[in-house]
Amino acid sequence: MEDACNDQKTLETPLDCSPKRNQPLSKNAQKKILKQQKFEAKKAEKKALIKEQKQRQAERKRKEWEEKLASLSEEEKQKLIESRKEMRKERMEKRSEERERKIEKLTKAKENGQNIVIDLEFAHLMTESEIHSLVQQIMYCYAVNGRSASPAHLWLTGCQGDMGSQLRRLPGFDKWIIEKEDRSYIEALQDQKENLVYLTADSETVLDELDPKKIYIVGGLVDRNRWKGLTMKKAEEQGIQTAKLPIGNYMKMSSSQVLTVNQVIEILLSFSETKDWKTSFFQVIPQRKRSEADSEEYRAEDREVNEEKNGESERKKKCIEVPSGN
Ligand SMILES: C[S@@+](CC[C@H](N)C(=O)[O-])C[C@H]1O[C@@H](n2cnc3c(N)ncnc32)[C@H](O)[C@@H]1O
Repeated sequence: MEDACNDQKTLETPLDCSPKRNQPLSKNAQKKILKQQKFEAKKAEKKALIKEQKQRQAERKRKEWEEKLASLSEEEKQKLIESRKEMRKERMEKRSEERERKIEKLTKAKENGQNIVIDLEFAHLMTESEIHSLVQQIMYCYAVNGRSASPAHLWLTGCQGDMGSQLRRLPGFDKWIIEKEDRSYIEALQDQKENLVYLTADSETVLDELDPKKIYIVGGLVDRNRWKGLTMKKAEEQGIQTAKLPIGNYMKMSSSQVLTVNQVIEILLSFSETKDWKTSFFQVIPQRKRSEADSEEYRAEDREVNEEKNGESERKKKCIEVPSGN
């Protein structure tokens, strides 16, 4: 049952795919669980290692500071302590200014930023670690939006149940300048239904531009593409528009064109700023997801741009475009 669900091309009954009690797991399912467990163990190991490294570094810095103080006269010591306090104060002031600027920017974006919704109605289709991963991606999206020169008006819809409680557990989440909506987007934004566009890699329509009137929806799903065609089917059933990112017009991918939630949001933010899909894709899509040749071509192109900038070459920038439909 689980395998059939995992391998399905379209989704007839998404809610009916929980493993049945007492039913032995298939070899494939067992392998997947083992792989997930190994991944989790490795992740925990890495986290512990980073924590230990940080502690060691802090300890080393503390020792260096104490040794330095010990080598100074009383007067020099006081001076050094004062200057360190001053530096810390300046750093705090700078941080608080940055925070205020960010609040101002995000508050403005609520009025005139591009509306982007993260649809959080898929918690029941994800494992605990996939939900955790999605929460991390949302945190990342929020941070990138705060740093963006043209931030979006971000929405989290269907923000309830497991998903909602994990998000609410994040430190500072209650202060996030983002629309937190328990209801689904179709309910909360029903008066704007004609402007809703579900972004999905399975759409036939290619997104050319971002229309400020439209509300772009990104599926809050971490599924390693287990639930193929899910968001497309959902949008079709709801009678709302769909579109896919124009990746194929600009780059070749080594596998599918299905991206993660944070990659999609980052691309949209980058495009809002640059109005240039190619730059946005190459900035965000990791090299391992691009075809080898394509990455090398872009690196070569990049090198040429740098050489031109440095006045080392007058050569014209080679225009390497990928034929559409890839
Ligand atoms: C990890 S994908 C989820 C894939 C899932 N099987 C589905 O049916 O959408 C997360 C979301 O990012 C968006 N997305 C990913 N790749 C995309 C692409 N090439 N074009 C448009 N949207 C994309 C979609 O909204 C998608 O739901």
